[in-house]
Amino acid sequence: MQEESKQTDESKIKKAVEERYAAIARGEIKSCCTTSKPASNKVYNIATEGQGYNQNQLAEIPEGANLGLGCGDPTAEADLQPGQTVLDLGSGAGVDCFLAARHVGQAGRVIGVDMTDAMLEKARENARRGGFTNVEFRKAEIEKLPVESGTVDRIISNCVINLAPDKRPVFAEAYRVLKAGGAITVSDIVSFGPVPESIRADLNLWAGCAAGAMDKEDYLGVIRQAGFSRISVIKEMAYDYQRGPDYGFSSVTVRAVK
Ligand SMILES: C[S@@+](CC[C@H](N)C(=O)[O-])C[C@H]1O[C@@H](n2cnc3c(N)ncnc32)[C@H](O)[C@@H]1O
Repeated sequence: MQEESKQTDESKIKKAVEERYAAIARGEIKSCCTTSKPASNKVYNIATEGQGYNQNQLAEIPEGANLGLGCGDPTAEADLQPGQTVLDLGSGAGVDCFLAARHVGQAGRVIGVDMTDAMLEKARENARRGGFTNVEFRKAEIEKLPVESGTVDRIISNCVINLAPDKRPVFAEAYRVLKAGGAITVSDIVSFGPVPESIRADLNLWAGCAAGAMDKEDYLGVIRQAGFSRISVIKEMAYDYQRGPDYGFSSVTVRAVK
């Protein structure tokens, strides 16, 4: 019975997340992280305060690939080299895939995985317009990657894993597909302090990258339990978004090695 209701909760979360990002891809709403809640809740986009891209980087990728949905710049910290195979978890319109593609060159390749059809369409259209023949986009959930074991040199992900109801299968899958010595670099939202149940249960805030954000230490624990070593927090920035007197949310960029 309990297992059944957990699954219902998880499918409700997935549906809310998919609907939000499909609407963003179709241009019906602009931001992932504003809420319709009035008054005392400060309302703004997490992403625009957390992205680390510079104008030179953005000039190299197709217009429309950066929808302002990230919370860091994982490609900058991922030690990408020519010839590598890179996997982007939750690739959206493709921004980080295209940035990674410039690093790995024609001898390398980049695979973006996303579950939202409208995002995949946008990303594929961006790849065509930008002439990115070394980038492909696959439809899947990041909890079950359509990628062979031990074939990937680097994994990147930008503001996605907080949206997964259970982070354990995500990091277990990441570990499975990486080559030995391969590394994952993730920018994501984490929480600190006792986040109220009213936030944790709010589907709107799940899609808005707050409700599903794990406590930072627990998040690092899940990465460790998946088998990763040399886990380091490279960057960290606290947000005002949904902040309370003794709790809040930050973006972190974390690197870990298989
Ligand atoms: C906040 S956006 C970030 C997109 C991209 N990484 C960027 O920085 O622009 C989250 C993306 O992750 C995708 N996503 C969320 N949960 C997912 C899951 N469990 N499996 C696959 N994709 C997921 C959404 O469809 C959406 O495109």
